[in-house]
Amino acid sequence: MKKIIIAIDGHAGCGKSTTAKAVARKMNYIYIDTGAMYRATTYYILENKIDIQDITEVKKALGEISLRFAINDVTGNIEIYLNGESAESKIRTMEITSKVSDVASIPEVRHFLVDQQQKMGTEKGIVMDGRDIGTVVFPNAELKVFMTSDVEVRAKRRQIELESKGEQVNFEDVLEDLKNRDHLDSTRKEGPLKVAQDARIVDTTNTTIEEQIDIIYQLAKEVAEAQ
Ligand code: CDP
Ligand code: CDP
Repeated sequence: MKKIIIAIDGHAGCGKSTTAKAVARKMNYIYIDTGAMYRATTYYILENKIDIQDITEVKKALGEISLRFAINDVTGNIEIYLNGESAESKIRTMEITSKVSDVASIPEVRHFLVDQQQKMGTEKGIVMDGRDIGTVVFPNAELKVFMTSDVEVRAKRRQIELESKGEQVNFEDVLEDLKNRDHLDSTRKEGPLKVAQDARIVDTTNTTIEEQIDIIYQLAKEVAEAQ
């Protein structure tokens, strides 16, 4: 079967990465979490107290950032490495989450990351999730999915996830963050979150993870078989 590119975009917290990872495993494809790239870049910018209004400083910082995905020998998971060190445990806190959409709205940051993402897809056989994958990174992806779901359901699921990792969070704060990021992500000039013309819309409000994996896996098999 010919390998394809599967682009999964959508609102924050609707299960894109969980689904994309599982579909990649079933297809024997590579999974790329582009949100982790924006998060790791945000982490570097915050750690180094870069003024994001100063584009010269931002460009200098981008020149110092090296990102790659690799297996962490300790956890056995594929994680994002920032300048040689796994950044996985640092990039999913509420602090980073609340700043990432501001950093992701900077055109220079988007060009820096989109360029790397496009290079990762030259061999196809990848599942990539984010906000602009089907519209900007791979406008010719063979399968595009736009995932969405009720924002309160997403907030509840995200709260449970953060609490299971030991971070105590308030439901209202998580809800506010999701709404705020969806708004910023959808209204920025460069690479906004929007439904690609040829995307299949999948609403995950009432689906289990297993059901949504199956929906996208079936679509992926159909599209790949038709190549
Ligand atoms: O997992 P969650 O949906 O909360 O977010 P994520 O996928 O990790 O992405 C974090 C943030 O990175 C998003 O809210 C966007 O601001 C930005 N992002 C982006 O602008 N473009 C992408 N392709 C992926 C993420
Ligand atoms: O990548 P994205 O931000 O779209 O979502 P995610 O990180 O894959 O999922 C956010 C949280 O919702 C995770 O804890 C998932 O396990 C959970 N989830 C769920 O419980 N049921 C679903 N149908 C979808 C997601």
